[in-house]
Amino acid sequence: MTIQYNEQHRIFAIQTNQTSYIFGVNGKGRLQHLYWGSSLDPEDCAPLLRTWSHSSFDMEIERILEEYSFWGDLVYTEPSLKVSWHDGVRDLSMKVAEHRIVEQDGQEKLVITLQDEAYPLETHLSYTVIPELDLIVRSAKIVNTGSHDVILENTQSASWSIPYLPDYRLTHVTGKWSGEFQLRNTILSEGKKVLESRRGFTDSHANPWFAVDNGYATEDSGDVWFGALAWSGNWKITAEKTAFNQVKVTGGINDFDSEWTLGAGESFETPTFVGGYTAGGFGEMSRHLHQYQYDYVIPSQEPRKVLYNSWEATYFDVNAQDQMALAERAARLGVELFVVDDGWFGERNHDRAGLGDWFVNREKFPNGLEELIQKVHNLGMGFGIWVEPESVNPDSDLYRQHPDWVYHFPTRGRTELRNQLLLNITKPEVKSYILQFMTELLSKHDIAFIKWDMNRTITQPGMKDHPLQRQKEVWIRHAHTLYEIWAELRERFPHVAFETCAGGGSRIDLGILRYADQTWPSDNTDAFDRLSIQEGFSYVYAPKLMTCWVTEAISGMNKRTTSLQYRFHSAMMGTLGIGSNLNEWSDELIDESAGYVRQYKEIRPLVQYGHQYRLDTLKKQGVAAVQYVNKEASETVVFAFLHSQRLGEPLPRLRLRGLQPDKMYAIEQLPGAWTGKAMMNIGIELPLRGDLDSLMYRIREQE
Ligand code: GLA
Repeated sequence: MTIQYNEQHRIFAIQTNQTSYIFGVNGKGRLQHLYWGSSLDPEDCAPLLRTWSHSSFDMEIERILEEYSFWGDLVYTEPSLKVSWHDGVRDLSMKVAEHRIVEQDGQEKLVITLQDEAYPLETHLSYTVIPELDLIVRSAKIVNTGSHDVILENTQSASWSIPYLPDYRLTHVTGKWSGEFQLRNTILSEGKKVLESRRGFTDSHANPWFAVDNGYATEDSGDVWFGALAWSGNWKITAEKTAFNQVKVTGGINDFDSEWTLGAGESFETPTFVGGYTAGGFGEMSRHLHQYQYDYVIPSQEPRKVLYNSWEATYFDVNAQDQMALAERAARLGVELFVVDDGWFGERNHDRAGLGDWFVNREKFPNGLEELIQKVHNLGMGFGIWVEPESVNPDSDLYRQHPDWVYHFPTRGRTELRNQLLLNITKPEVKSYILQFMTELLSKHDIAFIKWDMNRTITQPGMKDHPLQRQKEVWIRHAHTLYEIWAELRERFPHVAFETCAGGGSRIDLGILRYADQTWPSDNTDAFDRLSIQEGFSYVYAPKLMTCWVTEAISGMNKRTTSLQYRFHSAMMGTLGIGSNLNEWSDELIDESAGYVRQYKEIRPLVQYGHQYRLDTLKKQGVAAVQYVNKEASETVVFAFLHSQRLGEPLPRLRLRGLQPDKMYAIEQLPGAWTGKAMMNIGIELPLRGDLDSLMYRIREQE
């Protein structure tokens, strides 16, 4: 039994393999959080279920610890739900009415119904338990059981209370275009630290994930509480520390400029917010999140293919001849999926025109796409293609025909970003246009892979023809419609894999990952810059989901020169891709690269299905090292990168992780064998030298 209810004490306990999450119904009928940490007997928490105050100015301090706080009465911290009633009242008084423990898709789920004292509104709080990963998936459903509209002004998914710590350190990521997933941390002082997106998509400036520890947790040890939100629209995670040293982290759809009208009999369901606790440090946190994505979130268990992408090779200058030549060379490398990026459609000769006109450009492809697809298939590869369905260039037939199809305010200009506007996909005719051209594209051609891009943020978020008083629904409606389109396409074309991209990594979250097989974390393909992007990514998201391309020796991004080996090693840590202009590569370079692709295919099961351990991070001694171990711990691969050597300064010994202590292991490239415990405690030496050196060690258990 993972979910228990103690009738006598009115206490709920969610027991996972190694953790307990405990809360109770207090004397006022409210759900009060009691404990989250290593496994415990729920009865031991009974004395915590009490109300307390500090002064008449600070009454009911326990309300700060509400499982889901309803704005009204004495709630002054970040609320989880705030509404306006038809009669002008704006206050909630929700009491626990009943609970159910159900089984859904093999998982136990607790649903607690709270009911307002005076108004016909219910909140159903869900807790789905993933015992083997010590995770709880929370969400809330608001149900209007009355006959009047209710305005939902703020509807969060969940609030996570962190147990008492002397200090609370928040870890999160920040970033920008071409510099996504940069790790940051800060000790929380009283007040709020808000991580959010207001840009209409998940965003690269922040990602909907958090971790809290006492400031001393490491990769391998220490208590870490964490959570990740499944939402690809505007979101908000608020880490709040009160004057009474309590910390709660509340997250969900961003309430900024947002509102939802809940009609009579209607319900609104929030995105899910998965949370977990581990005593095993940040490494264990990541491995649990990765496994959660593999087992419960992403749509397919298939291995991800080695792909080629034409973007950095040909940009908009795409044509059948060049692409066929690239395909021939890609096949020689051992590529399994050939992807044509932007530039194949309409008048898309640059980023100023063509978006929206999803028909093949006949000048570039006189015989249509079919000729290239045939060629790619004959070469033994699958074919993939880039689309950006939500956008339109003003210089396009689509925009000339339907200038009202874009988000805009009638009295304002239409801000162009990358020379494009954003389609109001919530309009039924726009949604069907997208579904129709995608359906045509995917049924007319044998396409195995779609890279779905979105290259701008939302501005002037006006929805023409949508009721005036419901205009603020735009942010939620865009995300909902996007999910509906992806769900529909996946249903219609189950064999097609999808990559989520938004000018690099601006749309990566657990929401879109229900439909996307892989992600494009960044347009920055510099192999060194990628290390920190990939490190931040790995805190939350699984290696298999991370597409990484090998590009030119001199990075087009920042002019840094790196060796072929370094570039391959950096890109082999996720789903390997090649993005170079192979038409300019020598035969030697192609042959050498084919060797790396072969190696990648051999280690792919480790990288794409194994456990990942971050052994070292560049921030310390200039060495980054990541290890992948298979489930049986019989095989492992280690990647290590040296930024720049300083004479006489010793390099760290790499203490491996996840091996069987008493088994013997051998490093492929070196003579001799060592016990697992020697490798994990003494560590292995790193023969890295000079600048930007790298190695990949394959290590196997000896029979
Ligand atoms: C975005 C993507 C790139 C590429 C271009 C094409 O920037 O992130 O990978 O597809 O668009 O215009």
